[in-house]
Amino acid sequence: MKFFIDTANLDQIREANDLGILDGVTTNPSLMAKEGVKGEKEIFQRYADICDIVKGGSVSAEVFATDYEGMLREGEVLAAINPQITVKLPCTKDGIKAVKYFSSKGVATNCTLVFSVGQALLAAKAGATYVSPFVGRLDDICSDGVGLVADIVSVFRTYGYKTQVLAASIRHTQHIIECLHAGADVATCPLSAILGLLNHPLTDKGLATFVKDAEKMK
Ligand code: G3P
Repeated sequence: MKFFIDTANLDQIREANDLGILDGVTTNPSLMAKEGVKGEKEIFQRYADICDIVKGGSVSAEVFATDYEGMLREGEVLAAINPQITVKLPCTKDGIKAVKYFSSKGVATNCTLVFSVGQALLAAKAGATYVSPFVGRLDDICSDGVGLVADIVSVFRTYGYKTQVLAASIRHTQHIIECLHAGADVATCPLSAILGLLNHPLTDKGLATFVKDAEKMK
């Protein structure tokens, strides 16, 4: 399973990248706004900086437009920033048409805001590189986010769709483990959830003992 980090914060992206396990980055308008990025110039510069940190990795840049023509206009500009850019498009009627447009041109796409197998199917048929089911937001409404990831993985494998299942809206470390078991191709996670994978009290206890015993041999 590939690891993407779900943030537009450069320090967090650098920290995850320095771990040597990062395959890409996803952003969305909310994550960009959270960083105080404003105006086209700053937005494009932020994407360029992110691509520079995660060299060779996929960087999802989401369009702001909700109409087909607007999505094509914005998507073309975003894709021109760097070949690492994956154009992120919402799973709407216009969004699916835009996925088809970009995938036909060989531009990588991430179809986002996916909450059902049916939406994932349309994205895959339109040729999306990634489809992003939102795990946490389904859990928020007492639905089964990881269950949706597993269902999409199963349908894509049955029918041989090449679209990768990118588990999004990951809120904590256990979500990552569950998505791993569900067969997700990618999980995009906050830094805290990624670092949480390292935590084990027996590791801390064992290391403390090794350090103490190593002292005896000095
Ligand atoms: O990748 C999508 C993600 O950013 C949404 O996460 O926590 O706002 O549901 P959240």
